[in-house]
Amino acid sequence: MNIKWGYNKMKSIAILGYGVVGSGVVEIINNNVEKLKEKIGEEVKLSKILVRDVKKHLNKPYANLLTDNIEDIFSQEVDIVVEVMGGIDPAYGYIKKFLNLKKHIVTANKDLIAKHGEELLNIAKKEGVRLHFEASVGGGIPILRPLSECLAGNSFNNIKAILNGTTNFILSKMDKENMGYEEALKIAQELGFAEANPESDVMGYDAARKLSILSTIAYDERVDWENMKVEGIAHIDEEDIKYAKKIGCKIKLLAMSNKENEKVYASVRPVMVDEDSSIGKIENEFNGILLDGDAVGQVMFYGKGAGKLPTASAVFGDILDIIQNKKDKIMAFNKKQASIEKEWNHKSKWMIRVKTVNRHEIMKELGEFGKCHFEMNAQGVRDEVMALVEVDSEDMLNQKINKLSDFYPVDSIKKIMVLGDN
Ligand SMILES: NC(=O)c1ccc[n+]([C@@H]2O[C@H](COP(=O)([O-])OP(=O)(O)OC[C@H]3O[C@@H](n4cnc5c(N)ncnc54)[C@H](OP(=O)(O)O)[C@@H]3O)[C@@H](O)[C@H]2O)c1
Repeated sequence: MNIKWGYNKMKSIAILGYGVVGSGVVEIINNNVEKLKEKIGEEVKLSKILVRDVKKHLNKPYANLLTDNIEDIFSQEVDIVVEVMGGIDPAYGYIKKFLNLKKHIVTANKDLIAKHGEELLNIAKKEGVRLHFEASVGGGIPILRPLSECLAGNSFNNIKAILNGTTNFILSKMDKENMGYEEALKIAQELGFAEANPESDVMGYDAARKLSILSTIAYDERVDWENMKVEGIAHIDEEDIKYAKKIGCKIKLLAMSNKENEKVYASVRPVMVDEDSSIGKIENEFNGILLDGDAVGQVMFYGKGAGKLPTASAVFGDILDIIQNKKDKIMAFNKKQASIEKEWNHKSKWMIRVKTVNRHEIMKELGEFGKCHFEMNAQGVRDEVMALVEVDSEDMLNQKINKLSDFYPVDSIKKIMVLGDN
């Protein structure tokens, strides 16, 4: 396969990284050369591909373009640099330097954008070049551009989303095949849905970084992920799943933010959602994003949140935007930091599991909540109270939980929010 030369208008593209996404980007560029020529009269040329270890990639297309020396790319005539190597360093330094050299950047790197997005966008603006990062949230799902362009006439005050395919795959397996967390994680790793070190996914950090980018754009205020409540799924067990099923719910790692009275509640946490709701129906490695706009109402974006070609599809869309010289609406992250709340201070239901030998006292205490429904737990489990309680706020619930553990011998207390309308 060969990208042809010979047109007057020629855009030269360098790619940093030739792994899952980088290989997809090369494939999609290659498949679309003719279409680009026909539709917009532009020809693209791959100039260099940066990797760590050239030897690993010699059997891939364009092996003649490989380099392990970034200076080879700094010194080239390049129009667009695609960063798909991942991580903060050295990607951050490289992108800064390319922007200062007035090169347009396309990146899929949510870690980098969540941490340095504001600074990099400002440099891009100063240098008169573009920094696009559609693939950093929702992989192949177009969401950032629709949010900042097609939906620009809306104010948003609510985002509910499944932004991590790995954890959704694990929770789907646990739900459908009655598997434990460890077994489901192992299958996800064998199928390539989870990395050997799954920490960033299962602890919720990956989803939190994406929610930070999404909320920052939606609310036009900086919503830093370090200030959010972030809870992963490693502690979810078969009993939680059974209990969720009993009340017609599924457990999902929900990325959720809500803007109200100049404050933003933002969290990534396991939540029980109605199994028939739009979020409840998102299964396996799929992602979904539900937005509430004041003009458009509720809109949902759904699709593959990761993978070679889905992610490369979003990267290619960004490249095309730059080639077509479309005006970039996400010119800067607003500098103003949002005031972030970590607790859900709205009336809602919670599933509570208290491991204790003092079952009667705990039931009496929990019974003081106006609305409390006790549930039988697994047969033979005698040291646990399981209840569904309704409270006015998470603050109130936390106070009660602290009181329980101060006054009674309690081994552990678990709480999972049950989300009403979704
Ligand atoms: N995978 C997905 O489905 C997906 C979805 C959305 C977003 N993303 C984002 O896309 C980016 C790339 O992900 P990926 O899955 O494609 O990663 P990957 O498969 O691990 O590939 C990374 C590539 O970058 C190269 N690289 C890494 N560090 C380098 C360094 N210091 N110097 C030179 N080359 C270096 C590697 O070279 P070697 O091969 O020689 O080591 C490899 O070719 C990440 O930011 C990720 O978060 C990925």
